[in-house]
Amino acid sequence: MYLSRFLSIHALWVTVSSLMQPYPLVWGHYDVCKTQIYTEEGKVWDYMACQPESTDMTKYLKVKLDPPDITCGDPPESFCAMGNPYMCNNECDASTPELAHPPELMFDFEGRHPSTFWQSATWKEYPKPLQVNITLSWSKTIELTDNIVITFESGRPDQMILEKSLDYGRTWQPYQYYATDCLDAFHMDPKSVKDLSQHTVLEIICTEEYSTGYTTNSKIIHFEIKDRFAFFAGPRLRNMASLYGQLDTTKKLRDFFTVTDLRIRLLRPAVGEIFVDELHLARYFYAISDIKVRGRCKCNLHATVCVYDNSKLTCECEHNTTGPDCGKCKKNYQGRPWSPGSYLPIPKGTANTCIPSISSIGNPPKFNRIWPNISSLEVSNPKQANVCDNELLHCQNGGTCHNNVRCLCPAAYTGILCEKLRCEEAGSCGSDSGQAAPPQGSPALLLLTALLGTASPWAF
Ligand SMILES: *[C@@H]1O[C@H](CO)[C@@H](O)[C@H](O)[C@H]1NC(C)=O
Ligand SMILES: *[C@@H]1O[C@H](CO)[C@@H](O)[C@H](O)[C@H]1NC(C)=O
Ligand SMILES: *[C@@H]1O[C@H](CO)[C@@H](O)[C@H](O)[C@H]1NC(C)=O
Repeated sequence: MYLSRFLSIHALWVTVSSLMQPYPLVWGHYDVCKTQIYTEEGKVWDYMACQPESTDMTKYLKVKLDPPDITCGDPPESFCAMGNPYMCNNECDASTPELAHPPELMFDFEGRHPSTFWQSATWKEYPKPLQVNITLSWSKTIELTDNIVITFESGRPDQMILEKSLDYGRTWQPYQYYATDCLDAFHMDPKSVKDLSQHTVLEIICTEEYSTGYTTNSKIIHFEIKDRFAFFAGPRLRNMASLYGQLDTTKKLRDFFTVTDLRIRLLRPAVGEIFVDELHLARYFYAISDIKVRGRCKCNLHATVCVYDNSKLTCECEHNTTGPDCGKCKKNYQGRPWSPGSYLPIPKGTANTCIPSISSIGNPPKFNRIWPNISSLEVSNPKQANVCDNELLHCQNGGTCHNNVRCLCPAAYTGILCEKLRCEEAGSCGSDSGQAAPPQGSPALLLLTALLGTASPWAF
């Protein structure tokens, strides 16, 4: 049973920045698709990579529960406080609004007291497992930009799997396992995201960090997106340029953060003790007060606007692309194969616009430059090697711009913009590394901060 959520008929969450400025002083986070510039031929459009703003994606999902009748209250049922088997005067009754706990309450406004939450029936059929699948569907590919956070109103489950789908729910892959005892529950060694690295970032782990019973105060489970970004962008995500560069060139990494659906598989409720108290099974159930999912529509860097219309998300494609994800060229614009936009060169990226088909020739617009990708750069024409436009790529620390795609860095530095000390990356800087670090106030770094990290250092 789908619970359709009619939140807004047409929620436009990005206002297109003024496109009229001749050449904006500061480029946002790929937040415009085109600007007008002046050349000897007069005013022309300059096209660039662009993406919608990151936003609260729970407003646009459909939720489905399996089994469908697992929500408590039909028939009415009393349940006990988790920590106190003798406090059983709580009631769940689906037909009384004040006593009902429907799934919508996982996505409503938080901050009320007491908080509102979805609750399952109790474990009265023990020892048959009490299991629930909660499926969140967007019917659209989205890119996660922040941690998934699930708040449990009762204890956090003893066993749970977070899964994702990239094909609208046809196939599923695990995203992360959660258990009080990973070895026992899933035959996996417990790990934390902090044990991962750039090279193992895509590993699927089982964590015990979030599964201690109701004896601890914390109610929250994370799926750590930011910690994974930080392997590329550094602590506090100061160097988004480097992350964007990696996302551009590594499809697997891009896909890792992309989903059409998420599924929370609750496998065993919090028990909190070694044995299940069979005399008080009304102590055991699931209750979730909040689920946070932040992300953006995936538009292949061809749109800044994603609209919610008729309970459907769609990219408003530019660059003469079309499709829900701007995944193909418009009719009559198939003069070269479709390709996604590129984050490189930073900060404008490359639009890779679709050009008119051969039959409908005009000259392709002058500003449709295609930038070579990083691997093709190694074999690129040496005569081109120093075609450089420092407006586009601000190499730091004495790096020189190469083909507008990459900075060639002095030996001590690395990163897309030579912004990182090599020893820092290797974790082998001496105690004076603070002094050796790039000066915080250098114009290039200030600009980069303005471009990539506006208000909060986490802005993505
Ligand atoms: C949840 O989904 C899994 C995978 O499809 C399935 O095996 C399981 O039976 C489902 N559980 C419930 C309670 O529907
Ligand atoms: C797309 O096509 C329209 C209509 O021909 C044209 O005006 C526009 O400039 C094109 N845009 C791009 C990005 O090529
Ligand atoms: C990048 O360049 C390599 C080497 O020329 C080429 O094989 C590959 O297809 C290119 N990738 C894209 C996405 O253009």
